[in-house]
Amino acid sequence: MTITIDAPLDMHLHLREGDMLRLVAPFSARHCAGAVIMPNLVDPIDSFEKLFRYRSEILAACQDHCFEPYMTLFFRAYRRKELELLKDHIIGIKLYPAGITTQSENGVKDFDAIEETLSLMQQMKIPLLVHGESNGFVLDREREFLVTYREIAESFPSLHIIMEHITTADAVAFLDEFENVSATITLHHLMITLDNVIGDLMQPDLFCKPVAKTPRDREALRQAVFGGHKKIMFGSDSAPHPRHKKECIGCAAGVFSAPVAVELLVQLFDEEGCLENLPDFISANARQRYGITPPQKQITLSRTPWQVPDDHGGVRSFYAGKTINWSVV
Ligand code: NCD
Ligand code: ZN
Repeated sequence: MTITIDAPLDMHLHLREGDMLRLVAPFSARHCAGAVIMPNLVDPIDSFEKLFRYRSEILAACQDHCFEPYMTLFFRAYRRKELELLKDHIIGIKLYPAGITTQSENGVKDFDAIEETLSLMQQMKIPLLVHGESNGFVLDREREFLVTYREIAESFPSLHIIMEHITTADAVAFLDEFENVSATITLHHLMITLDNVIGDLMQPDLFCKPVAKTPRDREALRQAVFGGHKKIMFGSDSAPHPRHKKECIGCAAGVFSAPVAVELLVQLFDEEGCLENLPDFISANARQRYGITPPQKQITLSRTPWQVPDDHGGVRSFYAGKTINWSVV
């Protein structure tokens, strides 16, 4: 059996830079039509010069694959002139609360001080992508941040706000309250709970921010995604770290899923008997919510099992060593 689909859009992707960029970019570029590129480099992407340099490095790393990198800026207080210059070259601006995840030290410390930039973004129709976690107890962080989402969504009713990588039933329910709010969900949060991370021997490959939550939360994500929720887009949050930064004291947060994402998504939707809802999740919802037209590209998958390698050049991927039932032809 084979299926042919529009190549996915990955609406939340970390490509890193230098050798890591060259290693990981082809995994996304070969199967996806495009991806939203996260700006949390060691020196965050927050200027015209950095944005263009990074974009050309990405295109070079993608070799000959047809792939559109939808660029984002790291949130800071931008002036009107800067945004006017940048707005046609970005898909949105990514806001991180300061220190909440990998390379977010320069994020927002004072949420009362961001209104001016949000107001400019609303006027210029620049979407706001948010890592929505408070600095409270780790399992409560996403739910606690809903207060902030609510304030922003109410104050800026025509600002498109994307709740990135949601992991809780509360966040799924919140989506229905505001027309201007969308969300992304990762592959791994559809598959794992906190039990997979720390319930038995601790699994550094599965440690990420936000951490995987309860079975009830995962069920809410699965019902929304497999049921064809129109405001939820696929965003892998594939976030590679070298093995020496995962398998050590002080394990870095991030799940590297790019090498397996497309095949595992097809497997999941197939297992759930809802392959007809896959195109919405991996492409149509993103086109509609963001108003983008990605490059035309299709991929064909066949029901041919393959074993995921244990290692990809010093990085371990999600599902390493396990077998996936679908392969891209
Ligand atoms: C991401 C990373 O490594 O850049 N880590 C993660 O656990 N998801 C940052 C992020 O998206 O939080
Ligand atoms: Zn991320």
